[in-house]
Amino acid sequence: VWPNGEESKVTGKAIDTEIGGTIVRIRPICPADRHIEADFVRRLSPGARHYRFLGGVHELSDEQLEAFCSVDGEQTMAFIATVQEDGEEVEVGVSRYAPGATEDHREFAITVADDWQDRGLGAELARRLIAHARDHGVKRLHSVELADNAFMRALAAELGMSTNRDPNDVHQVIYSLSIQ
Ligand SMILES: CC(C)(COP(=O)(O)OP(=O)(O)OC[C@H]1O[C@@H](n2cnc3c(N)ncnc32)[C@H](O)[C@@H]1OP(=O)(O)O)[C@@H](O)C(=O)NCCC(=O)NCCS
Repeated sequence: VWPNGEESKVTGKAIDTEIGGTIVRIRPICPADRHIEADFVRRLSPGARHYRFLGGVHELSDEQLEAFCSVDGEQTMAFIATVQEDGEEVEVGVSRYAPGATEDHREFAITVADDWQDRGLGAELARRLIAHARDHGVKRLHSVELADNAFMRALAAELGMSTNRDPNDVHQVIYSLSIQ
């Protein structure tokens, strides 16, 4: 039994992949995921949180949680990666996008649980998000990141993203992917 594995109405199917002998399910987020999303952010290391939120977010507010879990599949979208631990579904990664500066641009973010980093999960979550974006007419994805985030730099390179300096902040860079 997969507690939250039902298909979401707006968004698409769950896909299982094996990573290092563990089955990881990647599926659209849904409103019932509030508690696993909250647990996921709570368990992130200070370093991961620092890079993801560009600052000191420790816990998501109720409003943030609600927004993060209630995607519409068009302006907003998110995929989560989950595993089964002691009969419970546990979130180990997420990729998401939100509206960008123009109608066909979106701003994305990816986070993988510390224990799961460097095993290809970030790239998998990114590919799923990019495919969804392509299917929904999105022309460009971009992400503002701290310039010293080596993992994100490696992931962006793997995904063929271009890198530009953030004109507003010397400590930040903007990764960008044109979607054909
Ligand atoms: C950035 C992040 C999403 C990458 O996810 P991931 O699952 O670790 O990435 P992957 O395993 O798919 O690997 C992507 C690249 O990052 C490198 N990498 C990832 N984690 C690494 C680690 N702990 N040590 C060294 N390299 C690492 C991989 O080697 C790979 O590079 P390659 O293509 O040159 O081999 C993840 O590290 C993360 O969540 N970091 C904290 C939050 C964050 O910075 N998010 C991005 C801002 S939104």
